[in-house]
Amino acid sequence: GVKAKIAPSMLSSDFANLASEAERMLSSGADWLHMDIMVDLHFVPNLTIGAPVIESLRKHTKGYLDCHLMVTNPIDYIDPLSKAGASGFTFHVEVAKDNWQELIQKIKSKGMHPGVALKPNTPVEEVYPLVEHEDPVELVLVMTVEPGFGGQKFMPEMMEKVRSLRNKYPTLDIEVDGGLGPATIDVAASAGANCIVAGSSVFGAAVPAQVISTLRNSVEA
Ligand code: DX5
Ligand code: ZN
Repeated sequence: GVKAKIAPSMLSSDFANLASEAERMLSSGADWLHMDIMVDLHFVPNLTIGAPVIESLRKHTKGYLDCHLMVTNPIDYIDPLSKAGASGFTFHVEVAKDNWQELIQKIKSKGMHPGVALKPNTPVEEVYPLVEHEDPVELVLVMTVEPGFGGQKFMPEMMEKVRSLRNKYPTLDIEVDGGLGPATIDVAASAGANCIVAGSSVFGAAVPAQVISTLRNSVEA
């Protein structure tokens, strides 16, 4: 199978202590740090972390910063986020209908890993061309809640998208985001997800390392 990447969502961390929260997650066994970039008050009605905060965090960690761009104009953020030290750059397909080829190429030219995300109401077929292109995305993020906020309920009906992607693309990184935790991981893992974003379940736990290892064991079982 494909290797598990467990990515705590820093949206659920204490923003006033972002550097120590990041280190706490990495020392608890996290592979990636999931960074929810909500900065335009347009794509989603929430305001979180942008390039200046990524730049500050990068001075304190060598961790893989898995950036999820919940913005309407992702192209505007490629330069700032690459300079800030982002590792992965995942844009939404709903706002990239006309320029996804340019987005992928620019993300790669800046040394970042391109990914594409889809909202719950977006059909999975919309991302197939991006995976099959000669210059493809490396990851598909299947949203399992409406984007914008942590702590929402996992939507199991999204697993049909994950199964379709896994059947077509045996080695693709397939990420799920929203409502993941010990109670929902088995459904997601058996559908074929290998990159697991988890915010409230990890940060709400007394021992985050236990939740992270439960998530990993389910994916790698
Ligand atoms: C929601 C974000 C998620 C969120 C997940 O828009 O994309 O990354 O932080 O949080 P939980 O795991 O609490 O659903
Ligand atoms: Zn996210």
